[in-house]
Amino acid sequence: MSNHTKKRVSIVGALAATALLALAACSTSGGTGTTSTSGAGAKIIKVGFSQVGSESGWRAANTKDIQAILTTANGFDLKFSDAQQKQENQIQAIRSYIAQGVDVIAFSPVVESGWDAVLQEAKAAKIPVVLTDRAVDSKDTSLYRTFLGSDFVKEGTLVGEWVVKDSGDKEINIVELQGTTGSAPANDRMAGFKEAIKGHANLKIIASQTGNFTRSEGKTVMEGFLSANPKIDLVFAHNDDMGLGAMEAIEAAGKVPGKDIKIVTIDAVKDGMQALADGKFNFIAECSPLLGQQLADVIKQVMAGKTPQQRIVTEETTFTQDQAKAALPTRKY
Ligand code: AHR
Repeated sequence: MSNHTKKRVSIVGALAATALLALAACSTSGGTGTTSTSGAGAKIIKVGFSQVGSESGWRAANTKDIQAILTTANGFDLKFSDAQQKQENQIQAIRSYIAQGVDVIAFSPVVESGWDAVLQEAKAAKIPVVLTDRAVDSKDTSLYRTFLGSDFVKEGTLVGEWVVKDSGDKEINIVELQGTTGSAPANDRMAGFKEAIKGHANLKIIASQTGNFTRSEGKTVMEGFLSANPKIDLVFAHNDDMGLGAMEAIEAAGKVPGKDIKIVTIDAVKDGMQALADGKFNFIAECSPLLGQQLADVIKQVMAGKTPQQRIVTEETTFTQDQAKAALPTRKY
């Protein structure tokens, strides 16, 4: 162990050792853990990545992309852990990465709040942190180098604007399937959507509940909405998976998704795009999970002593039913 690594380990002490043990059960490493140079002699960058979980098709595509790009061949030793949508697991993972003396920590925070203490620990250990996909609400922006990912407010706004246009003057009762409570995409998509429909008195959100970004919870919550509300015209789901769960609940209730009850969502993963092409969804705002290359580039910049932009926004689009039919054959995820 180098002196540099020893110094980092001493900062976190026994607490981090405990975290290490706990994390071992759900972690994988892309390398041997001891390799320090590539075949060409360049330094391999040790990256500890804490993923939110495996709650959705989007998340599966995001994990696959990161693991495909942060490879040993590309100069990385990736240590990856799945937090199963629990903040305490992510905090444990970050402490473990500090204890292991990784070069960079990257993570997608399950919720926005409550990160300052562990991010201070990373800063004290001089390990740069990169946020991917989701933001934290820390006031101290020196706790991380950059936040790379989508503009979630814009996604909610784009969906809301489509609903305004599509509805005209009709009275529309909307139910909202929210993402994980306290997460950046749930907070921001809700805010963007509400802002877009503000001032349109014919558009009413009659019920909102979290479906935790999963298909099964989306279905269960939609079943409850259907039995409590005789007139539902439109579902706004914060992601495709919850929209797909809602679609199943609508069909089970003997109604036609996309016609009797419209469904608008965010993500544009293959299953969502198929539902849109089939006329069962009505509109999707894209949220790209393909963040691996940008993450790799940012990490290399940081390791080269450069300062990346504080905020890197992913480029995205929207899809109607016809656009989904055209895009599906070449969709990567
Ligand atoms: O943070 C991105 C969101 O998380 C995606 O929209 C959703 O599908 C995922 O679970």
